[in-house]
Amino acid sequence: MKRLDDYRLSFPGQGRGGRNEFVPIMIGGMGVDISTSDMALEAARLGGIGHISDAMVPTVSDRRFKTDYVKERLKKYKSVRESANKLEAQFDLGALAEAQKRFVSAAMEAKRGPGLIFINCMEKLGMNAPKATLRERLIAALDAGIDGITLSAGLHLGSFALIADHPRFRDARLGIIVSSARALQLFLRKNSGLDRLPDYVVVEGPLAGGHLGFGMDWAKYDLRTLVAEVLAFMKENHLGHIPVLAAGGVFTGSDAVGYLDMGCGGVQVATRFTVTRECGLPDAVKQEYFKANEEDIEVNTLSPTGYPMRMLRNSPAIGSGIKPNCESYGYLLDSKGHCDYIDAYNRELARVGDEGKVRVYDKTCLCTHMRKFQCWTCGHYTYRLKDTSRRNADGSYALLTTEHVFRDYQFSTEHQVLLPAA
Ligand SMILES: Cc1cc2nc3c(=O)[nH]c(=O)nc-3n(C[C@H](O)[C@H](O)[C@H](O)COP(=O)(O)O)c2cc1C
Repeated sequence: MKRLDDYRLSFPGQGRGGRNEFVPIMIGGMGVDISTSDMALEAARLGGIGHISDAMVPTVSDRRFKTDYVKERLKKYKSVRESANKLEAQFDLGALAEAQKRFVSAAMEAKRGPGLIFINCMEKLGMNAPKATLRERLIAALDAGIDGITLSAGLHLGSFALIADHPRFRDARLGIIVSSARALQLFLRKNSGLDRLPDYVVVEGPLAGGHLGFGMDWAKYDLRTLVAEVLAFMKENHLGHIPVLAAGGVFTGSDAVGYLDMGCGGVQVATRFTVTRECGLPDAVKQEYFKANEEDIEVNTLSPTGYPMRMLRNSPAIGSGIKPNCESYGYLLDSKGHCDYIDAYNRELARVGDEGKVRVYDKTCLCTHMRKFQCWTCGHYTYRLKDTSRRNADGSYALLTTEHVFRDYQFSTEHQVLLPAA
């Protein structure tokens, strides 16, 4: 009976030094600070790959390192509070780079063991100046010694070019998340002039958590077909040496083995780690994930990014009419200083007037709610998490450890899930 541990993941390219053989388990990036450095460090210690996420990194830095980025930003942009156009509320690129470097360095300095730590960088975080802020984030992560960067939530057609001059452009592992062979083809075509291929490709299907790379017709797609298409495309284009990782709904070690048997180099998994001690969600929210049933999970269009997002129906973010908080955060502002939540909020405010309570059901202020862990984004199989643990005497579920879940993926057979010791 095959186990995931019978396989190893390696990346193309020699000369990077160190080992190039990893347990083929990549824990996916989960912003905002849901896949914490502690979780990524565990994956690296166990010989796999962990992700930190740079979503809202100045805010995360304030919480973790007692910095004052949010306070400073609010002080500077108080004057644009009443304006619907937040173009003036630009990010201070120096402060952004500083926050990113501190965040990445702390994780890299703490790293022990044979695995790697990557950072998940979402393109959709436009941050009021998409190109300039993304460039700053990528460069600062490379400067701080990150092992690799996973480009996500966007086509990233220009992202390699932003860092092509960096001394680590060819030495750091750079990968991209796609949801189709077509998206991968576009990415490769746009970057063909740089003589730099990605070191890995994550194929994320429609059952993943977070934002989805599909429309609201996501249910028409399935991961196995998408993976087969990408593998065939890579083979036809003599790219078969680049590992493909399957993501979205890989719930057991045997699910993972199925993808490695197809020709994948590894899997990217996330949902099962949301109920671990190292996960950044508050413990009470982890219990909500455990308790969820299939009908409690929905895919909706509340995210101002324009991508569908999967979340628990009882997320406090849904229907909240909180005032837009772009002066403090503003991570979703586009290059014109606009976010769809601002429009939705202003429309409802005009409808109910100053006296009424504003409730907004079609969009959500993602910055505020992700930061406060009130938007409970999750993978499709969250409703199976209850089968991965035991109940405590008080009826709550016992939290797992990253090591426990990682090793269960690595060693389990026949779709078995190892429960924690009583
Ligand atoms: C709570 C949660 C938050 C996520 N946040 C992000 C994110 O910020 N960026 C991203 O690229 N993917 C995000 N994802 C997707 C994961 O990185 C991963 O690819 C996917 O969820 C794997 O499928 P699984 O959860 O079924 O194992 C998130 C997933 C979850 C469950």
